[in-house]
Amino acid sequence: MAFREKGSAIIIKTPEQIEGIRRSAQLAASALKEVAPYVKAGVTTEFLNNICRDFIKDHGAVAATVGYNGYKHETCISLNDVICHGIPGKYTLRDGDILNIDVTTILNGYYGDTSTMFTVGEITEHAQKLINATRECLRIGIAQCRPGNRVGNIGYEINKYATSLGYSVVYEFCGHGVGIRFHEEPEVSHVADKDTGPVMQAGMIFTIEPMINAGKARAKVDKRDGWTARTIDGKLSAQFEHTILVTPTRPDVLSDISNEYPKP
Ligand code: MF3
Ligand code: CO
Ligand code: CO
Repeated sequence: MAFREKGSAIIIKTPEQIEGIRRSAQLAASALKEVAPYVKAGVTTEFLNNICRDFIKDHGAVAATVGYNGYKHETCISLNDVICHGIPGKYTLRDGDILNIDVTTILNGYYGDTSTMFTVGEITEHAQKLINATRECLRIGIAQCRPGNRVGNIGYEINKYATSLGYSVVYEFCGHGVGIRFHEEPEVSHVADKDTGPVMQAGMIFTIEPMINAGKARAKVDKRDGWTARTIDGKLSAQFEHTILVTPTRPDVLSDISNEYPKP
């Protein structure tokens, strides 16, 4: 996330809100599924954005990013050393590229936010390992979601795992409460001290969206466009994001449409 509304309490969602947010998150995930077959060498990132744009529109939703603090596109597409907030444009995909596509939908007023990694042609083993580790970081974070546990333990466990593999965790961008607005409380850092932060309760909905770097953790935002966040050392970065509901039993991954996560 880029800008957070501070000082507001964490919203406990009603059953009606939960179902609305679930539908929106599933639509966002469906847009990523729709675009997947188009991710190939020779296409521009703008073309991929437009596939998502049309899909979202055709399903009666709008992209939350359009007009958000001046952002103009329906997706963020972050390639290789871009950590997040990559702007879709004229760049043509090449063999060996790795990219994250991030979609946030507003459907019937409810926000759903998810992103995933794509690969172009043959990628290096180094890149594949980073992607696999980042997917695992998200899974580890989600496994911390239960009432009574503290939000900080999400970042604590993610950071512990990522650094054990020699990777670093981006601390300048975080997950966030989501659903009624784009960026709600709580802030979900992917690096945190054990047993810190707000206590989770059933009915909370937030994203977990770890950005994991092959090299140094620091991010540098492009001065010319004001958005594109890159690694400072030019090394690769990967990210996965889900929208998650805390329930009394297991976490409900609202943006999971491929049954990767068991339902509560
Ligand atoms: N979808 C991003 C997130 O996960 C936010 C993108 S904001 C934008 O929080 F303006 F860059 F699009
Ligand atoms: Co998000
Ligand atoms: Co997102």
